[in-house]
Amino acid sequence: MRHHRLIVPSAAAACLLLAIPASAAEPAPGAPGIGDSYYPSYGNGGYDVSHYDLRLKYQPKTDRLEGTATIVAKAKQDLSRFNLDFALDVREVLVGGKKAAFTRTGDHELEITPSAALDSGRPFTVVVRYSGTPSKVEAGGFTGWQRTPDGGVAANEPESAWWWFPSNDHPLDKATYDVSVAVPDGTQAISNGVLTSNSSQLGWTRYNWRSSKPQATYLATLAVGKFDITTDTTANGLPVLNAYSKDLGDTAGAARASIERTAEIADWESTVFGPYPFEALGGYVPNVSAGFALETQTRSFYGPKKFAKGSNVSVVVHELAHQWFGDSVSVKDWRDIWINEGFASYAQWLWSEKEGEGTAQELADYTYDSYPADDPFWKVEPGNPGAENQFHEAVYDRGALALQALRNRVGDKDFFAILKGWTTKNRYGNASVKDFVTYAEKVSGEPLAALFDTWLFTPSKPGATQARAAEL
Ligand code: ARG
Ligand code: ZN
Repeated sequence: MRHHRLIVPSAAAACLLLAIPASAAEPAPGAPGIGDSYYPSYGNGGYDVSHYDLRLKYQPKTDRLEGTATIVAKAKQDLSRFNLDFALDVREVLVGGKKAAFTRTGDHELEITPSAALDSGRPFTVVVRYSGTPSKVEAGGFTGWQRTPDGGVAANEPESAWWWFPSNDHPLDKATYDVSVAVPDGTQAISNGVLTSNSSQLGWTRYNWRSSKPQATYLATLAVGKFDITTDTTANGLPVLNAYSKDLGDTAGAARASIERTAEIADWESTVFGPYPFEALGGYVPNVSAGFALETQTRSFYGPKKFAKGSNVSVVVHELAHQWFGDSVSVKDWRDIWINEGFASYAQWLWSEKEGEGTAQELADYTYDSYPADDPFWKVEPGNPGAENQFHEAVYDRGALALQALRNRVGDKDFFAILKGWTTKNRYGNASVKDFVTYAEKVSGEPLAALFDTWLFTPSKPGATQARAAEL
């Protein structure tokens, strides 16, 4: 309930104020950022997206991407205007079928003023017509789109959407996706979820992909190129689809030997983390120079360098574990990155343990010993590493050490109950590091704040006793 304003500038204004019911506040602009502590301009305020429909066309020869995004959203306040995050050229914007005014601010903001204000609680649609040469577009000082000899790829964290679709670009606003991409006949387009259909006309083949569970914007991916496709099914009958660029050269064998084990690994992870959260799975390896991998939802991106030295099942274990930890249960704020990377890294230790290649404790001891106390590694706090250290090894390695410390402290029964319970309780949602500490305390019935302070929030090497967590 609003209070009456106490200061009235003039009698005329007073009449106006009285004429408006106290609840009908003036429509206001949505914030240009969702409130992230590391990336204040990422995401936007005032509305929530439920679905993205992207109808695109991509020409590999020129790296030209063009198309129309239809965004289904709901206003969370009376909105006079709102922002989308986007870096390509916009030709036209419609809101509710009517032309809307738009302007660009910064390098990734599209500010939209609809012809009439949007009422709080009301669904609305935004149509954005756009085009661009994504590999030539810089935002945030780089480009998140990677061109390949026969196509292009959108895969990066946290910035990836800006170069291929307008969005509310933050994990707090998840949505479902239909991604329809036309490419020249003989070329393929790969995206998230399930390929519902494809057809060819006038020399262009259109691929229609659907991702039908809530998906964060940075986990949406698009790859265009010439791929060899393999399919498989999990024990529960979920469809696996993997795609390998036809020009991987020497790494093709190692990539296949690793990624073709997707169903086996996901089946095992389901026994540890709970049921696989999505409708499909798999991975793709485009011919890019990037050396990283990314847990793009249902269809992980693997840079070929990951397989340069031979098979690498561990990276597949890592990206698949992210489907639970990161994709289904997502960060509330980018500072919570440990709830993604600490767990995906620990999954690699659990796999090693199961394979008889070293127990998690052995790997924890080895990791702990491999960084001397004066190594800058220990200065980074995995629980709040800072934007510049979001993907620092400390988030991964010390992040996994934190989980080994928890396991030693609460015992295997509670530890594995915590892992499964966490993915169940937070499925398709968002959570924070704090939420995890609270949840682990609840399940184990033990106070754990000191343990997590030591492992996640102290800028120095914990003592050897603490590494065993015996005394905590
Ligand atoms: N979440 C990814 C992984 O560890 C990290 C990707 C970070 N690298 C990057 N270039 N954005 O699997
Ligand atoms: Zn990871």
